[in-house]
Amino acid sequence: MPADTRPVLYIVACGAPPAGELTAFVRDAQAQGWNVCVIATPDGSKFIDAGNLSGLTGHPVRVRFKRPDEPDVLPPPNALVVAPATFNTVNKWAQGISDTLALGLLNEAVGLRLPMVAVPWPNAALAAHPVFARSVATLREWGITLILDPGRLPQPGTGEAGTFPWDELRAILPSLRGPKAEPQASWRPRPS
Ligand SMILES: Cc1cc2nc3c(=O)[nH]c(=O)nc-3n(C[C@H](O)[C@H](O)[C@H](O)COP(=O)(O)O)c2cc1C
Repeated sequence: MPADTRPVLYIVACGAPPAGELTAFVRDAQAQGWNVCVIATPDGSKFIDAGNLSGLTGHPVRVRFKRPDEPDVLPPPNALVVAPATFNTVNKWAQGISDTLALGLLNEAVGLRLPMVAVPWPNAALAAHPVFARSVATLREWGITLILDPGRLPQPGTGEAGTFPWDELRAILPSLRGPKAEPQASWRPRPS
């Protein structure tokens, strides 16, 4: 079989309801020429149909760190999408915490300067938390594209689910095939 030369897109799904809508987005990314791999946080795995997604992508859905003696089962990524990105994962990512496989891969991708786009999906109350604003600013400073419109987020206690911006995410995907993200000067390592 000829080698798969398609660029590899990791789609990271966190523990929020839009993770259950991932199938259509995976198909769209594949139609754009990506070799898609899905990674879920442990809570994200409760919202997805992992069997369906692994059948669709041809890759297992990874949730936990492998055992030390196990081989890597996914090809290395060229770009990453985090959709949905929970309040929890956004804040931990901005702190460099790697206590899930998803965060470990995202943190590594920051260091590798890989192109990334995340769709933070807290409810409107959590979006107003001061730590969240700092995390969003940090991720943007690192060159990560965030799609975040507070007016579309779920409203706590109302049953209002919000409108997840799948269309915007689909439209931005081609830009991830360009050059690596350019971090702001403040984040560049200082010359020694
Ligand atoms: C039914 C349900 C819906 C949830 N919806 C959201 C949500 O829309 N946004 C969010 O940030 N967290 C939501 N959470 C909370 C997260 O799942 C929780 O903070 C979890 O620790 C996130 O883990 P992760 O960031 O590793 O995926 C929801 C939890 C449940 C049980």
